[in-house]
Amino acid sequence: MAKLKSLDDLLVHELQDIYDAEKQITKALPKMAKAASNPELQAAFEEHLEQTEGQIERLEQVFKLLGLPAKGKKCDGMAGLIEEGQKMIAEDAEPSVKDAALIAAAKKVEHYEIASYGCVCTYAEMLGYEQVHDLLGQNLDEEETTDEKLSALAESVINVEAEEADDTEEEEASR
Ligand SMILES: [Fe+2]
Ligand SMILES: [Fe+2]
Repeated sequence: MAKLKSLDDLLVHELQDIYDAEKQITKALPKMAKAASNPELQAAFEEHLEQTEGQIERLEQVFKLLGLPAKGKKCDGMAGLIEEGQKMIAEDAEPSVKDAALIAAAKKVEHYEIASYGCVCTYAEMLGYEQVHDLLGQNLDEEETTDEKLSALAESVINVEAEEADDTEEEEASR
């Protein structure tokens, strides 16, 4: 790999990382939606898949504005987070407990993205790339909103159901 000589180089490096990460996410989200039992959680994953496709388009615009080809570089961090998510999908679990675990896995993905977009937004702003900053800021906003939405869903319903899953099982066993 060529030497990173400047903040510009680092911006491109990080953009290639998040571009690859987003592509990995578009393949993982349909599996997360399929594994979810709660219809609202399913809908949240499906909605975020659509958003993610839009985010990829924005990143392609960013590359274009910078006069570069849209090119990803294998994001090992996202690959690891997705692998953990896949393992959770394969676990034997109470449906509500699995839903809570899917939210935990998804929030880890969102936090990775928030960190990435936060950094590239800062770099773009420092370098005076207004349009690039604006596009990346839109992606950042969507990731933050998704993270908050997942928390709200967990706190209002899914974690509560997961907490009660054990009680239901005991009641059934004592019948
Ligand atoms: Fe994303
Ligand atoms: Fe996301």
